Amino acid sequence: MQNKSFLRLEDMGDVETLLSILSAIYEGIVVMARDSTIVYANPAYTRILGVPVSKVLGRKCSEIEPGVKCLEALKNQQPIHNHYEIVKSLGKHLLTDTTCIYSGGEFVGIANIFRDITEIVQLNNQIQKLQKYADNLEEQLCYYGRESLPEPFKEMVGKHPVFIQILKFAAQVAPTEATVLIEGESGVGKELLARAIHLSSPRKNKPFITINCAAIPETLFESELFGYEGGAFTGAKSGGKKGKFILAHEGTIFLDEVGELPFSTQAKLLRVLQNHEVDQIGSDRPFPVNARVIAATNRDLQKMVSEGKFRQDLYYRLNIFPIRIPPLREHPEDITLIANHFLGQFNNKYSKKLFFSNEVIQAFLSDSWPGNVRELENIVRHAVIIAKGPEIKLEDLPAYFTKRNNREKKNMINPLAQSPLRSYLNGAEKEALVEALRLSNNNRSKAMKMLGISRGTFYNKLRKYCLL
Ligand SMILES: Nc1ncnc2c1ncn2[C@@H]1O[C@H](COP(=O)(O)OP(=O)(O)OP(=O)(O)O)[C@@H](O)[C@H]1O
Ligand SMILES: [Mg+2]
Repeated sequence: MQNKSFLRLEDMGDVETLLSILSAIYEGIVVMARDSTIVYANPAYTRILGVPVSKVLGRKCSEIEPGVKCLEALKNQQPIHNHYEIVKSLGKHLLTDTTCIYSGGEFVGIANIFRDITEIVQLNNQIQKLQKYADNLEEQLCYYGRESLPEPFKEMVGKHPVFIQILKFAAQVAPTEATVLIEGESGVGKELLARAIHLSSPRKNKPFITINCAAIPETLFESELFGYEGGAFTGAKSGGKKGKFILAHEGTIFLDEVGELPFSTQAKLLRVLQNHEVDQIGSDRPFPVNARVIAATNRDLQKMVSEGKFRQDLYYRLNIFPIRIPPLREHPEDITLIANHFLGQFNNKYSKKLFFSNEVIQAFLSDSWPGNVRELENIVRHAVIIAKGPEIKLEDLPAYFTKRNNREKKNMINPLAQSPLRSYLNGAEKEALVEALRLSNNNRSKAMKMLGISRGTFYNKLRKYCLL
């Protein structure tokens, strides 16, 4: 021995030392000769399998456990790695590695090394059971959330918790007289919600009158909204005209796109809202109106106020119960639900029995939906009319959509051309999330399992890519 500070295998000398090392190993080890006679088993073997070493030494494994995988390794003289095995008689789950042993170049037997993963398997089973239970509760919660809603709100498809929360809030405000301001991008369902509020109020049997504030020329604003008496001005109808506010008397008036009102007319509208009466052109006495007001906008009114484009006093009058409907990309798990809702409707209407192909669902899920639910509705209608069936394929979708969708996908997959590595990684990460959601049919628990990430990380990433 030249250098004492290095331990060499040959210095360890005898078999006894080697055996004491094997005895200390946590994994079970069993060594078999070519005819499967067990020539060695370490104490972990007994600990894991509960069989004393003395009971197996000298006996043939082919007789004790004829079905075990390591016998194949013995027969084929080939190692087997990472094999998952269940010892049914003992209820044990094992992960085994079988290696071949050679002496002087000749195959003399095998060493089977195994780890007890019973506890891990049991815990995993328990987690899965709990997960199923949690999924079930979550679904029930959504179900009960929707179930308790008044019928008109059930027209609005969606089960995302935020969406349900919005419907519940609107349902609470509906039976009151309160003014409601519905905010949201184009096509998110502002008008549908306004109607649902009206139909769930005591005014449901009275008129629901819509004023599209973007469509009324400034000069016609007063005659359209307040009306005029017969002969009030040249060209006026002889019997006069009832303004929209008077038509909405005892019902609801829906001020759609209220952010588009010219500044000058905003004051006139405010006056009606404050005084609850309109001055008909040509009439010398004001006409009292009792109309519940619901306004909608896809503009940021608060910003418009700070920019001096929208009157602050009118804003405060309208912004009593603001309700923001989120764009579709903020609740992508509702995309397939809503798409299938429209598919059912149009299948009925056009007497077809079509269903979506996987590629179409994938395209739907990976899109940003700038036109929201209305756009989805239009695309499904287009597809149902065009498709020969039974599957709706990508080519049945409008060309503009597939073009946009391809561009968006390309930007997701190959943004290297214009941006650094980080954005490429982000694109890939977002794609993986979308794909997992698609494969799991929008089941988030399954998707996060598929991706092998924790619940917290999963939700952070959904939020990051606006997939929540
Ligand atoms: N959650 C939903 N479930 C089912 N259908 C919906 C839903 N949201 C919207 N729709 C349908 O989508 C279409 C657009 O809705 P709506 O006209 O209410 O949107 P909007 O926000 O008023 O749009 P815009 O800002 O363009 O006026 C309608 O046909 C409506 O019935
Ligand atoms: Mg609208």
